[in-house]
Parts: sequence; C-alpha cells; structure tokens
Amino acid sequence: MSKKMTAPAVRARKGGDPVVMVTAYDAPGARMADEAGVDMILVGDSLAMVVLGYDDTLQVTVDDMAHHTAAVARGVARSSGAGPARPNPLIVADLPWMSYHVSVEDTVRNAAQLVRAGAQAVKLEGGRKRVPMVESIIEAEVPVMGHIGLTPQSVHAMGGFKVQGKDVDAAQALVDDALALEQAGCFSIVLEGVPDQVARMVTDAVHVPTIGIGAGPWCDGQVLVFHDVLGIEDRITPKFVRRYASLKADAVAALSAFADDVRARRFPADDESYHLADGVADALGLYGAATKSA
Ligand code: KIV
Repeated sequence: MSKKMTAPAVRARKGGDPVVMVTAYDAPGARMADEAGVDMILVGDSLAMVVLGYDDTLQVTVDDMAHHTAAVARGVARSSGAGPARPNPLIVADLPWMSYHVSVEDTVRNAAQLVRAGAQAVKLEGGRKRVPMVESIIEAEVPVMGHIGLTPQSVHAMGGFKVQGKDVDAAQALVDDALALEQAGCFSIVLEGVPDQVARMVTDAVHVPTIGIGAGPWCDGQVLVFHDVLGIEDRITPKFVRRYASLKADAVAALSAFADDVRARRFPADDESYHLADGVADALGLYGAATKSA
C-alpha cells in the first residue's frame, strides 16, 4: 500500500526533500500524477484556461471546481499508485474567484463543498487581507494553502499577468503576507511569478513550505500545470515552464493517422471487427470472411 500524503506531512517537509505538486482536472490526469508519485495534486482554477478555453481564471465557479475535484478524487482512489515507496497525493482544490470574498460564512460553505467533492485541502489567493477567511476555514478543520505573488484572480487589478514583488516595498509586502498566512495557519504557500531572490526571502522567513511556480529554485517545492509539463498546451511558453513531453504534437499526429486510415479504408481491419459464427452467417445468407475482408 502506498502511504497517504497529508497536510501535516507536507508542512513537516519544510527544509527537507522538495515537495512536488502538479495540477490535474480529471480522473485520467489524476491517475497519471499519482502513478508518477507526486506529493500533491492541485485541482487548480487554471481549469478555466487550460481545459475550458477561457482567457483568465475568473470564469469558473465553485460548482465547476467541485465537479473536477470529484473526478480527480475518483482517479486517485482507483489508481494503482506509484508503489510502496511513494505517497498517495494530497488533493488540494482551488477556491475560485468570489467564493471567499463575500463573507466568512460563504467562504466556509464553499470550502466544505470542495471537501465533500474530494479535496483534502483548499487553496486561496491573497495575503494579509485573507487572514479572516483562512482562519475561518481552518476553524472548520480544513487545511488551507496560501497563494501570493502573481495571483491570477487579480489579473485586472494587477493590470495583466505580471511578475510581482519587483521593488523593495513590494518584496517586503510579500514577506509580510507570507508571515500573516503562516500565522493564520496555512500549511504551505504557493509563490507565483516573483523574482527568485524574493522567493528566497519569503522561503527563509516562514516555517511552512513555499511551493514555487515562476519563483526560482529556492522554494521548498515546485508546481507546474499538467498541460504545460506534458506539452498539451503549446500556444504560450512562459519562461518558467519546462516541457517534459510533446503530447499535443503526438496527439495531432495520431489523430491524423487515424483520419488517413479511415479515408483509405485501412481501418478497421478484420481482426479489429466482430464476426458472426459461420453457421449464423450462412443462415443469414451473408458473405464469408474471405469476401468481407477482400
Ligand atoms: O490554478 C493553478 O493552476 C494554480 C497554480 C498555478 C499554482 O493556482
């Protein structure tokens, strides 16, 4: 049996082996991530952009997130896992935009919906101003992951998807935000789109693991988006993405080969077809196999 990763176990990894997180949005993706032995699967609200075709993450709702979280949870539950040496990943679901901005009651109810769908922790964006929401979710016994720096749900407020923390005040503000999230009880903090030295300052300042994306090598862990790692998304290549496969190109080649075979009547072959027993075919006055495949 593989060991189950938990929020306290992730927290205890501070200063230890780097923590690996990848996004997934459906059961097959979750099974692949589990079999690869990642520590955490994030059902990210990047769902909106990489799966649902929107231009930003603001379009997805709690119902959308719950739907995909449930698929990921089923995928992990039915996966064969990565063997005894690797953990069963912790499933973290993103609270989408406007699900934790209106009231504490709303926030806790929305976090609960994601937990009932299969999440074992939730993530939300923002620093000091989110402390009351973080505390109320933790009060309801749900682990919370913070997310600061380039927070995609603030795309309009930031004036685009821009690297954050580039001047002295902004860098110091990120440290203060991280300390506030740690104090509020977050078990880890995503640092997105910040200069590597600032990520190092933040990582050194807090006692919980920082998980970087576009935040350089000094974070306690790293996260990438599933479709970026596998080259399923090939339109935009942010500099922080390393592609480990070219699945979009492979998929297009495979689908083209299928289309060619159908058009040339090479698919399906005789051994890819079901056949009647000879007696039944004869009784129906049908052609024999030789005639069929000719
Ligand atoms: O939604 C997402 O994929 C994320 C990661 C970029 C951390 O929040």
